[in-house]
Amino acid sequence: MPVTSALTTLDTDGAGTAGDYLRAVQAGRCEPAEQLVVAVGSGGDVALDETLDSVLGVTSAEVVAAAQLSGKAGQLTSVVAKLGDAVLRVLFVGVGDRSARELRKAGGEVARQVRPGESAVADMAAGLTDGQLSALAEGILLGSYRYTEKSADADAPAKSNDVRLLVPHGSGGADEAISRAAAVAAAVALARDLANTPSLRKCPQWLAEAAAEVAAGAGLEMRVWDEQQLAQAGFGGIAAVGSGSARPPRLIQLRYAPPEARRHVVLVGKGITFDSGGLSLKPNDGMKLMKTDMSGGGAVIAVMSALAKLGVRDMVTGLIAAAENLPSGSAFRPDDVITQYGGTTVEVRNTDAEGRLVLADAIAYADAELAPDQIVDVATLTGASRIALGGVRAALYSTCEELADRLLAAGESSGDRLWRMPLPEDYVDLHESSVADLANVAATDEGGGSITAALFLRRFAGDHPWAHLDIAGPARSTSDDGEVTAGATGFGTRLLLNWLATAD
Ligand code: BES
Ligand code: MN
Ligand code: ZN
Repeated sequence: MPVTSALTTLDTDGAGTAGDYLRAVQAGRCEPAEQLVVAVGSGGDVALDETLDSVLGVTSAEVVAAAQLSGKAGQLTSVVAKLGDAVLRVLFVGVGDRSARELRKAGGEVARQVRPGESAVADMAAGLTDGQLSALAEGILLGSYRYTEKSADADAPAKSNDVRLLVPHGSGGADEAISRAAAVAAAVALARDLANTPSLRKCPQWLAEAAAEVAAGAGLEMRVWDEQQLAQAGFGGIAAVGSGSARPPRLIQLRYAPPEARRHVVLVGKGITFDSGGLSLKPNDGMKLMKTDMSGGGAVIAVMSALAKLGVRDMVTGLIAAAENLPSGSAFRPDDVITQYGGTTVEVRNTDAEGRLVLADAIAYADAELAPDQIVDVATLTGASRIALGGVRAALYSTCEELADRLLAAGESSGDRLWRMPLPEDYVDLHESSVADLANVAATDEGGGSITAALFLRRFAGDHPWAHLDIAGPARSTSDDGEVTAGATGFGTRLLLNWLATAD
């Protein structure tokens, strides 16, 4: 029950301005909405219209001046006006420089101002390209995302609001731009839903069932390894990490295979459905929100759900390494030596560095069995990446310049922003072990926790171009901000869809 805005276009036979709409209402050609949204550009730039001014009783430029609106993206001021017998709320919203980023932010803020059951008509689309319109639509849809487990909401089906974007008469591409945005937003909302679901319900098998639903809906091939098959096939990392939980681990594979695909991309997601740290138990504060430790895997499932809708022309395989990391009498322990897929042995020094163990199996499997052209993994891997980059940007590591550049560009244009990090060779030795091929944590903190984790993963990708996204920072947010909503953010979904859909 995620996106709560129903977004459509409204063509009033005019240029698609607030004035056109008001005149259409006054002439009885159009139903009045509860709200009218008016865009304010940078510098407080606002379109002037006599009908709007007469309804307001002041000019919109006077509203902008009196409320000291600068037009900064997402800035809001609401005034009340009389339209015939009805009371109309007129919401002035800053759209900044009308870049995709600012429009997404403005859209997100607008969506939160429209209450369930209410309707709003927005004069925000005039003069926008289809790309800008898509960004605005994405913002509105994602800003309206809600996740609730309140008993009251379980009884009453959640009411959505109704947002209508005024478009110039006969603007052909608008509906297509909105439907692309809706496909992306639905995928992001799915990623948020998966990560927001409490771990009481969300175990590896539950995640496999969610993936099966996606596979059925999107026509994907699917394969799941259960705990016995994982152990038999040599997935020692996933088996070990999952061994402490009564709810056993799974490896989930989804495949999108369009005809005449030119390249094969493998996406690998960390699917730890709860990370307590295992026997290297986290303190309570560190465990909070660890239901979101499958955000990378959730993003991979979400991406797979939208590939066909967006017409992606590559073959894409999604691997989700799912396990619950809990302490128990059957749990793996510090000092254990495990054997990853393909035979590399790893000394476990800390059971809380579990993400790299499950990912290493999946990456090694992709390297050995799937003949990928590129491998990209997504994981809430280290608290260190959040310390380094904060809650907006994810850390990007890559062995391939071209892949890194393309992911960085997709990050900037999609809104899921990345920052490239180094893979310094002199830190590789920090993972040396006296008993095994390597250890799962670095001997000292001198290598930087996010960097050494990336170096660990790199060993398993063989010679394949590989990129790693450490999304521990931006996978969740403490507050609503533009198109981002508090809780799980679905980070990575927009980025990967943008990258795959724009590949040439
Ligand atoms: N899932 C955590 C990383 C994490 C931390 C994600 C905070 C989101 C917010 C990961 O499994 C972990 O516990 N990493 C350890 C690694 C350490 C033991 C080397 C960490 O970051 O402390
Ligand atoms: Mn951990
Ligand atoms: Zn973890």
